[in-house]
Amino acid sequence: LRVLFITPEVFPLCKTGGLGDVSAALPAALRALHTDVRLLLPGYPQVLAGVKYKSKVAEFTALPQFPPATLLSARLSLSKAEHIPVFVIDCPGLYNRDGGPYMDEFGRDWPDNALRFGLLSRIGAILASDASPIAWRPHIAHCNDWQSGLTPAYLHFHPGKKAATLMTIHNLAFQGVFPPGSVVQLGLPPHSFAINGVEYYGNLSFLKAGLFYANHITTVSPNYAEEIQAQTLGFGLQGLLAARRSHLTGIVNGIDVNEWDPAADRHLVKNYSSKKLADKALNKSALQQQMELTVNAEIPLFGVISRLSHQKGIDVLIEIAPQLVKIPAQLIVLGSDQAQLEHQLSMLAQAHPGTIAVRIGFNEALSHLIEAGADCFLMPSRFEPCGLNQMYSQRYGTPPVVHATGGLLDTVVDCTPQTLANGSASGFVFDTMSAEHLLATIKRAAAAYHDKKIWHRLQKNGMAKDFSWHTSATAYREIYLSLLS
Ligand code: ADP
Ligand code: GLC
Repeated sequence: LRVLFITPEVFPLCKTGGLGDVSAALPAALRALHTDVRLLLPGYPQVLAGVKYKSKVAEFTALPQFPPATLLSARLSLSKAEHIPVFVIDCPGLYNRDGGPYMDEFGRDWPDNALRFGLLSRIGAILASDASPIAWRPHIAHCNDWQSGLTPAYLHFHPGKKAATLMTIHNLAFQGVFPPGSVVQLGLPPHSFAINGVEYYGNLSFLKAGLFYANHITTVSPNYAEEIQAQTLGFGLQGLLAARRSHLTGIVNGIDVNEWDPAADRHLVKNYSSKKLADKALNKSALQQQMELTVNAEIPLFGVISRLSHQKGIDVLIEIAPQLVKIPAQLIVLGSDQAQLEHQLSMLAQAHPGTIAVRIGFNEALSHLIEAGADCFLMPSRFEPCGLNQMYSQRYGTPPVVHATGGLLDTVVDCTPQTLANGSASGFVFDTMSAEHLLATIKRAAAAYHDKKIWHRLQKNGMAKDFSWHTSATAYREIYLSLLS
């Protein structure tokens, strides 16, 4: 079974969020299940520099709408023993620049994103059809988020033999919307610009195209698969998704249990496991010291690692932070994204020296130390397709406080007398997204923290859970197989 996994980011070469993690760990887990998965990636500088054994396998010089590109075959090493074969699109005109994969250094979308990800989608479609210049031909083209959403559309209009298509939604909020003129610029037939096609409220939407033309759709948790069929979280696509519900499956993400393992994590001051939980405390004191918080073993320390955006409920966290420190408790936030939230958080840290610490930026090493050194993790997301940090934190004995939405609801069990008794309690869940409910739940967590018996049980329950990719990768494989018949 051959699968072309088309993605705009992959850990460790290029990651802005969970999609980067998933694009490394899911293909690796599928390969362990004897599935020949290969990635297709844009050739950003860090991708070209980070892959090994590059060789040129094809040239795309005659795609009328796009600058000339070269296809490289290479390897992405995940560990000494593990690697994934990758195809990289080397197109300096579109990808060779400083800044992020989607935005420049000032946080502005690249003005040519339609072309940049149009090319990714287009080459994905060519490789998945009988027009491919290379011998390796996938049975399935697996598209991820809007950046590869046009692949199913291009394939739909390809007259020859072609792969089946799977479109995975990691986040419905990002839709790849461009002016109507892009339809012809990108080489799509003009009649595809219709409600039964790529049109979305008068514009072209890459994601809508994928959702309309793909043979099957998945999203990253069963609960989110339900939520996106209704208006509140459907972002205007609820009608299409509800109409396609028999072709829509929710499969919860796993985590890379080697990368995120407190017993072996190289970023920690001291490794620990559920049998040696006392050693977790050394990470807490090191983190407090490094972040210039008062070193105190007894005060509950809450951690946040997040894109700083409306989705993640950071504004609500900012609102309650002055009350959080009065509990008493400490707070650490690591994140970046929206300038206003970055600024407000920095002001908070200034106003509460020793109790609130903020680091603006992307810092993989510090994110591991926070997972280990914090006592409790906060994820008050307004919506969350799956979320990974709530799983990392359970594995690190750092029970999460989460809003009951999306994958958070599928992966965290609220601490109650019953769930403590049956051994399932693993965190704190609040139903209504408001400052009041968030604060009340943080207080509930802080109180549980001071009851060492309850806290240890909670930590051990979370650490014993199986978040590995095996089950989810098996579910993806079953969908691939069902698409063959
Ligand atoms: P999303 O993809 O919506 O941002 P996820 O929870 O699925 O949310 O994944 C976020 C991933 O990005 C996690 O691996 C998290 O640790 C990481 N991350 C987010 N912000 C930062 C940051 N500032 N520094 C380091 N890692 C970060
Ligand atoms: C998205 C979602 C997040 C999910 C990740 C990986 O970025 O916001 O909830 O975990 O994709 O699927």
